[in-house]
Amino acid sequence: MLTTRQPVFRKFWHAVMPLTDLADGPRPFTLLGENIVLFLDGDGQPAALKDRCCHRTAKLSKGWCHEGTLQCGYHGWQYDRSGRVVGIPQLDPGQPIPPGYCTPAYHCTARYGYAWVALEDPVEDIPAIPEFGAEGWRTIFQFYETWNTSPMRALENSFDNSHFSFVHRATFGVASQPKPSSYELVESPTGFYAETTIPATNPPKFQRISGVTDPVTTRHMRNAYFLPFSRRLDIEYPSGIRHVIINCFTPIDDGRMQLCQWLFRNDTEEDCPAQTLIDFDDEITREDKDILESTDPDAVVDTRRRGVEYSMASDRPGMLIRKKLMELLARHGEQEVHRGNVGTIPIVTATPASCSATASARPAAAPVAQEVAA
Ligand code: FES
Ligand code: FE
Repeated sequence: MLTTRQPVFRKFWHAVMPLTDLADGPRPFTLLGENIVLFLDGDGQPAALKDRCCHRTAKLSKGWCHEGTLQCGYHGWQYDRSGRVVGIPQLDPGQPIPPGYCTPAYHCTARYGYAWVALEDPVEDIPAIPEFGAEGWRTIFQFYETWNTSPMRALENSFDNSHFSFVHRATFGVASQPKPSSYELVESPTGFYAETTIPATNPPKFQRISGVTDPVTTRHMRNAYFLPFSRRLDIEYPSGIRHVIINCFTPIDDGRMQLCQWLFRNDTEEDCPAQTLIDFDDEITREDKDILESTDPDAVVDTRRRGVEYSMASDRPGMLIRKKLMELLARHGEQEVHRGNVGTIPIVTATPASCSATASARPAAAPVAQEVAA
């Protein structure tokens, strides 16, 4: 599947950037192939615009924030969060800004420490993270980094119990037990819930993570998938320690995704320092990244396509992800677009980015002759 060719993904919220990254000014991001710029408005709320000035197309991300607006770094035009041009420094005092001067704006909101963006009207809310800010839980922002793979590959990997003995043989995988434990799977309208218990190597350096001193322990895994590219993994050790990982695999383009990972723990900094937890998951995450970046990001999603990829019983969660994605595409009149059919099937086009409802409700731009005199 070529992620950017499926317009339905534009109708979901995606975790795009930690809010802290916006403190020093606007930042660019590519979401589903679309170049956007994020900035904080006058209320300190994140906003997202097309990263293209409507004057001479300069990237707005090269500008800066000024009095609650985003100011282009080329000639200083200023934009509000709706994408409307609200300031042109070259105008005389009192001279009006011609109507229609704007750049497209996108849905953008702050939640769970991140700026979330939906390129079109979202059809689902942002998945709930009840542990965020809840009593008895601490939040650790673990990873925010670009991977050269697709969300589909990261998702199927995150439910795949048969890679632990191989990819993670140097960390928690038990090399002598390659046959994976199977999941109990329960479908939901927005994804599915998967539960299982796996063995886990537990050397001394991992014992503050697990709260267990046995050389091999178990992980009770409560794993959940949320359409289209999120998952929640609640790991419970026999000690009662819970290690809850939330992932958003945010699609950048057809070959890259942004890994956003939060960790929640029900123990304390004294029990296990945050840096130890980051280092622990970092080692495991490098193992996954290395192998996933060797896979073809154009993953088969429509399982009627035969002879491209072959499966085994333990791939069941991955097959269920595919089923859910195919149902989603069908509900929106789409079929899987991949390298083999791109250009040959009817194109379901994305709604072209235009200025926001507020901005576009204003009259179209005046003819050039009536625009601001050069
Ligand atoms: Fe942005 Fe001129 S290109 S103000
Ligand atoms: Fe893994």
